[in-house]
Amino acid sequence: MADLTLTNVKKVYANSVEVLRDINLDIKQGEFIVFVGPSGCGKSTLLRMISGLEDISAGTLEIDGQVVNDIPPALRGIAMVFQSYALYPHMSVYDNMAFSLQIAKENKANIDKQVRKAAEMLQLTPYLDRLPKALSGGQRQRVAIGRAIVRRPKVFLFDEPLSNLDAALRVATRMEIAALKEKMPESTMIYVTHDQVEAMTLADRIVLLSNGNIEQVGAPLELYEQPANVFVAKFIGSPAMNILPVTINKVGSQTNLAIDATTSVNLPLQLDKKEEGKKAQLGIRPEDFTMTALHKNDVLISGEIAFVEALGESTLFHVKTELHDELVIAKFPGVWDIQRGDALALAAPAEKLHLFAADGNNYSQ
Ligand SMILES: Nc1ncnc2c1ncn2[C@@H]1O[C@H](COP(=O)(O)OP(=O)(O)O)[C@@H](O)[C@H]1O
Ligand SMILES: [Mg+2]
Repeated sequence: MADLTLTNVKKVYANSVEVLRDINLDIKQGEFIVFVGPSGCGKSTLLRMISGLEDISAGTLEIDGQVVNDIPPALRGIAMVFQSYALYPHMSVYDNMAFSLQIAKENKANIDKQVRKAAEMLQLTPYLDRLPKALSGGQRQRVAIGRAIVRRPKVFLFDEPLSNLDAALRVATRMEIAALKEKMPESTMIYVTHDQVEAMTLADRIVLLSNGNIEQVGAPLELYEQPANVFVAKFIGSPAMNILPVTINKVGSQTNLAIDATTSVNLPLQLDKKEEGKKAQLGIRPEDFTMTALHKNDVLISGEIAFVEALGESTLFHVKTELHDELVIAKFPGVWDIQRGDALALAAPAEKLHLFAADGNNYSQ
């Protein structure tokens, strides 16, 4: 039950590499925040600094307005759930969950109440007498979460809790975590993952990190619909957004882009006169293409199909165009009788296009 404020937070490990550069972030009580980003970008480091397991090199971390940089982990009111469940193998599920309260010398009746309440929330009641080895991976991870819940922390931290589970269990346990969030609306939760689907489905707000920097903070659909830069645009969404090199022809009430010598498109975007003539990057999501132009302002791209990936529910076409070396990917629902080597014309409505400057920043923000 806590607000968190990070101000100019930095992390430099002993080998003097700056792993987190200048993190500024406000987290409100009851929010479910997801830190997402590629492997090695600093997610776990940031989480461990919040928990107190790792020193903060510079800047401040406040919990409910109090600077806690020098407060030891046990006194921060935070509970952390790891990828490896770290259960005690010789203790029953009940004892695993009760252990931290027994150490804290809470009274027996209260411990029993907390353990049973957490077990009920996580659907672990039938398993309380079992040893961890007699549980599935998903159930073990729920015990690890239960162990955190009984302590009634102000903040829950999760570091890739689903990474060790197979695909089906990952989906089921993800739903459990979403349900848990509904049952504990007062609790602040921070969840680390490299998986954009987990981030999109669980987060109230996503914090997208790369290389020790925050690229964007926002609601999942905000990042999908209004990515702040090319990095965010390519990280959120699968397959990734196509990025085509373009030149800004003319600015005015609309922006006219030259895609190649014969193709241009008008975007509903007003830019400064000084942008005229500059190189830019046009973003088109694979799922925003249609097979035929539906609007007079559609951008039209054609080429030859280099690969087809039939997924059943959808088909991905990788198209070789004259525009650049990378293949353009288009995604259409269902199954199509179109093969490698066939010509394919693609259209995309101007309102769905994203325009980024040469440095990667989104022009419309
Ligand atoms: N104890 C450490 N000492 C030195 N470098 C570390 C240490 N822990 C992590 N790093 C480095 O910090 C960077 C970020 O790591 P980490 O926070 O684990 O990333 P993520 O969780 O996003 O995969 C990586 O380059 C990693 O090698
Ligand atoms: Mg990590």
